[in-house]
Amino acid sequence: MNIIDYKKYVSAETMMGPNSVRILAELLEKYPLQTDSDDMILDLGCGTGLTSLIIAKETGARVFANDLWISAEENGKRFAEWGVGEQVTPVCEDASMLHFEKKQFRAVISIDSYHYFAGSKVFFQEKILPFVKENGEVLIGIPGLKDEYAGHAKELLSDWVGEDAAMFKSPKLWKELIGSSDRIQLVKTWEMDCFREAWNDWLETENKFALDDRQYFETIIKPYTCFTGIYVKIKNQ
Ligand SMILES: C[S@@+](CC[C@H](N)C(=O)[O-])C[C@H]1O[C@@H](n2cnc3c(N)ncnc32)[C@H](O)[C@@H]1O
Repeated sequence: MNIIDYKKYVSAETMMGPNSVRILAELLEKYPLQTDSDDMILDLGCGTGLTSLIIAKETGARVFANDLWISAEENGKRFAEWGVGEQVTPVCEDASMLHFEKKQFRAVISIDSYHYFAGSKVFFQEKILPFVKENGEVLIGIPGLKDEYAGHAKELLSDWVGEDAAMFKSPKLWKELIGSSDRIQLVKTWEMDCFREAWNDWLETENKFALDDRQYFETIIKPYTCFTGIYVKIKNQ
């Protein structure tokens, strides 16, 4: 995908953190999805639906755009304005209580949201894996702690994010949290390359949360945190 194609959709209104378009682009470049129009993809924690729009355009699949803080009505209006109202279905549900069909999704994608709700050992296998088809894939991009600072999130990040520091985990720890099962073929976690550019795009906006993040970028965010990529391939049983 070419991120320039989506520049006009990226604004202080649609962004909720570091540029989700860059994070999605890196995931799809590293692990391209082979999909067709019958496939269904879940965009988990989609926020304002920017990534849902792009997933729809880039894959041709039917997209379910799920978020908790943004209502389905609000996202539905945006999808209609963007011309993807037929292809993208807005849903407002807690990620720990989803009501989709078992094995419904060819892929689950989650950008800058999975860390809010999935930090326990059982979460992936109990709450997400059941909805992924055989041969399916899961692509996740989230802020985290660099591996060398694992275990020190509270002391290093609290001045910036307070109690939310506990959500910041290292790529190695995320691999352990996804775990293994007889349905999982492969789990990869890594520090993503788009960190600097995704943050720069966000810090340049006048969003009030971005203004706050600006104060901590050089002293906390840049030295200690990273963007963690997570890729899970499901077996073709
Ligand atoms: C920082 S925003 C990122 C949104 C969007 N993915 C992006 O990158 O712009 C985090 C998102 O996680 C979602 N979220 C947090 N907890 C959730 C939960 N339990 N279930 C579903 N979504 C959740 C919020 O609704 C919010 O939109």
